[in-house]
Amino acid sequence: MSKHIVFLPGDGIGPEVTAATIKVLDALKLGFTYEQKLVGGAAIDATGSPLPADTLEACRQADATILACVGGPKWAHAAYDKRPEAGLLGLRKELDLFANLRPAIVFDALIDASTLKPEVVRGLDILIVRELTGGVYFGTPRGITDIGNCERRGVNTQVYTTSEIRRVAARAFELARKRGRKVCSVEKANVMESGLLWREEVTKLHAEKYTDVELSHMYADNCAMQLLRNPSQFDVIVTDNLFGDILSDAAAMLTGSLGMLPSASLGAGKPSLYEPVHGSAPDIAGQNKANPLAMILSLAMALRYSLDRPDAADTLENAVKQVLTDGVRTADITAKGQAFVSTSAMGDAVVARLNG
Ligand code: IPM
Ligand code: MG
Repeated sequence: MSKHIVFLPGDGIGPEVTAATIKVLDALKLGFTYEQKLVGGAAIDATGSPLPADTLEACRQADATILACVGGPKWAHAAYDKRPEAGLLGLRKELDLFANLRPAIVFDALIDASTLKPEVVRGLDILIVRELTGGVYFGTPRGITDIGNCERRGVNTQVYTTSEIRRVAARAFELARKRGRKVCSVEKANVMESGLLWREEVTKLHAEKYTDVELSHMYADNCAMQLLRNPSQFDVIVTDNLFGDILSDAAAMLTGSLGMLPSASLGAGKPSLYEPVHGSAPDIAGQNKANPLAMILSLAMALRYSLDRPDAADTLENAVKQVLTDGVRTADITAKGQAFVSTSAMGDAVVARLNG
C-alpha cells in the first residue's frame, strides 16, 4: 500500500525548506502521496488555532508527518495556548510522541564549520533521546498569579512518573543496541526529586532488561560541559524534556550548524513526527537563504523509522554527503568569504545527485 505523508510548513523559513524537501521526495520516486496542512502561526492567522482539528486528524492518519518549524515575533505576545509553539507541543502531546531522537553527526566535509577544533568533533556520531511529552513543559500547576503587594509568582512544575521514565529509557536502550551499546542518563538527581526518580527508574529498568548495554549517569550541567570538552565519549544520551531541549541545541552546534540537524519524534504506535532541530529563523524568512538539509535529513529519518524504506534513507543521506563533498554550501555552513547557494539551489543539488 502506498504511504501517505503530511507536510507542515509552519512559519518563517518553513515554507522554503518544505518546498526543497518536497522536490527531493518527488525525485526519490517512491510513489508516496502527500499533502500540506497548517500549523503554528500560519494556522493561527488562517483559523485562529495553532493546531486546527483537521491538521491533527491528518497527522493521526498519516504514515509520517514532517514539520518544518513554527514561531515568530508576530505571535510572541499572545497567551501561551494561542502561540505557534502550542501547535507543536499540542501535536507531540496529542499523538503521544514521547521519544524525541536527535542525532548529532559531524560530516567530514563540514568539519571546519564547527566552532570546535577538528580533533574534538571528527567522526562524531551521538544520539540524544529527549523525553518529549512530560516534565516541566507540561506539568501542572503552571501559571502566573498576583500575590499582592505588587508581587507576582510564576510557576511551572517538573514532574515525571515511573512509566513515563521507563518508556523513553527503554527506547534509548533499544536504540543503543543498534549503535555503540552505551547509554548515558542525564538529570539533576543532586537537587531534584524528579531527577532522583529518573535515575532510580533507569537503573532498575537497565538491571531488569538491558544489562548488555553499558549505563552511566551524569548531572545535566556536567553533561553540557562534557559535550563541549569531549563529545565522542557519548553514544546515546537519554534525558528529560527540558534538559534534552537545551543539550540537543548544544550538541547540534558541535556539527557546525543547527541547519543540518534532523529529529524524529516517536510514540508507541503509528503516528510520528519528523522535524529539523532548528527554529523558524524569522530574520532570514522569505529570502531563500535557509539551509534545507535539516528538513531533507528529517525526511530520511522518516523513510527509515516510519515509511519502511531504509534503502531510500541511505540513498538520500548519501546524496546529501556527496553534495557537501562537492562543496555546495548554504550561508550557515560556508567558510568566511566563500560562495554559498540559496535554499532552492541546495535542494536542487540534492535532486541532481539523486538523479545522477
Ligand atoms: C524544540 C523547540 C521547541 C521546544 C519549541 C519551539 C516549543 O525548541 O523542538 O527544541 O522547546 O521543544
Ligand atoms: Mg529547542
